[in-house]
Amino acid sequence: MHLYRSALLVIALVTMCLALLAPTAMSKKSSKPKGEMIFAQNCSECHVGGGNIVKPDKPLSQSQKLATVATFKAYLKSPVGHMPYYKHIVTDQASLKALYEYCKTLKPSKQS
Ligand code: HEC
Repeated sequence: MHLYRSALLVIALVTMCLALLAPTAMSKKSSKPKGEMIFAQNCSECHVGGGNIVKPDKPLSQSQKLATVATFKAYLKSPVGHMPYYKHIVTDQASLKALYEYCKTLKPSKQS
């Protein structure tokens, strides 16, 4: 009887720990690749590897427009030339920041 009770207690404790840990583990996992995901879905077709296949002299990596989040946002809000406008990113601060952080990690491409 005592054994049964303590077994139940252990199960309850383990379940509680898992319930507490699972959300943090999950958010940690998904918060990092978010910027990378947004980039892959919206930007990489033209800025693959941080470059610029449409205008090679305007690469994304090391761009002045990445100086601050505000500069980045301002640029995405009113982009120049063939650079498209991304309303869903500009209006979502979390996405914008995640994308910004990812863009900052891009190294200059080999061609430029
Ligand atoms: C259809 C192709 C295309 C896509 C998709 C695209 N861009 Fe661009 N991007 C361009 C072009 C072309 C320019 C250069 C504009 C100009 O100055 O004429 C540019 C320029 C930029 C610059 C400024 C570079 C500089 O120093 O002048 C930044 C920053 C940038 N893009 C970020 C992004 C981000 C972030 C995304 C995704 C949300 C994105 N771009 C998606 C084509 C694209």
